[in-house]
Amino acid sequence: MQLAPNPLAPPSGRRLARRDCVPLRALLFRLLLLLVAGVSLAACANGHGESVPSSLPAPGSEGGSAAQEHGSGTQSPSTAAERVALPAPQLDSDRSLEEALAARRSVRRFSDERVPMEILGQLLWAAQGITDADRGLRTSPSAGARYPLEVQLVVADMNNLTAGVWRYVPLEHGLRLDRAGDRRGEIVAASSSQDTLAGGDALIVISAVDERTRDRYGDRTDRYIAMEAGHAAQNLLLQASSLGVGAVVVGAFDDDALARALALDEEKPLYIIPIGWPAEN
Ligand SMILES: Cc1cc2nc3c(=O)[nH]c(=O)nc-3n(C[C@H](O)[C@H](O)[C@H](O)COP(=O)(O)O)c2cc1C
Repeated sequence: MQLAPNPLAPPSGRRLARRDCVPLRALLFRLLLLLVAGVSLAACANGHGESVPSSLPAPGSEGGSAAQEHGSGTQSPSTAAERVALPAPQLDSDRSLEEALAARRSVRRFSDERVPMEILGQLLWAAQGITDADRGLRTSPSAGARYPLEVQLVVADMNNLTAGVWRYVPLEHGLRLDRAGDRRGEIVAASSSQDTLAGGDALIVISAVDERTRDRYGDRTDRYIAMEAGHAAQNLLLQASSLGVGAVVVGAFDDDALARALALDEEKPLYIIPIGWPAEN
């Protein structure tokens, strides 16, 4: 893609010097993720049935983040649940942010080709991945670092994943099976039969545990949560655009019917995002 010259580009022929540091930073980040995943898996395997929190304490929050206080909200006990580790996220690419912005378009028709796990993991990380393991901070901003958002991945037949509703666990950069069985028919029905939702490789659902934010922000909760869903969804859309993956945010659905399909109790679904390789035309 030909873009207009960037007026902020450095004058020399070199691209941003910061890029030179990325491989080392990426290596360190991956080592950190591996360490964190190892600690989490050890906790899972301790046989005491302790659930693994999906975030670390937030800066300035008394007694840790809401996600930690509530044991990541509606997550069911982790002992019996099937878990899958995702490939470590990439922190570099050949496509600039400006190119991803310029190329982003809602995609509603998808090819039959499968999206690999690396890309699935990258999209989920873009939405809610941990980027500061010490403080539990994520790719998307959150009011008071309360992190009310949860991200589900709904698959029918993909990458050897059991058909069902999987939950992204940020701290592990992994997936945990919340509900087995193909739910896509119910989800399509909950969204006025929008065909788009049946066509993609997978559906990513962003939902929120209201109380994590309401505890601190009261009346401003609905506003903050809607803003946060927008931040997370836009991160995901730009990452998809950067990778050439098709996606569209879908907000038109019956909340109760979708919550039933996903077996959500306390969580409120906010967005459905079908993803897949775009159809040829
Ligand atoms: C809050 C919100 C809800 C949306 N809901 C739907 C939807 O239910 N179905 C759909 O196909 N597109 C939906 N869209 C996508 C818009 O239709 C799309 O962004 C718009 O047509 C502009 O096109 P573009 O995204 O390609 O720039 C939604 C977008 C937003 C921001």
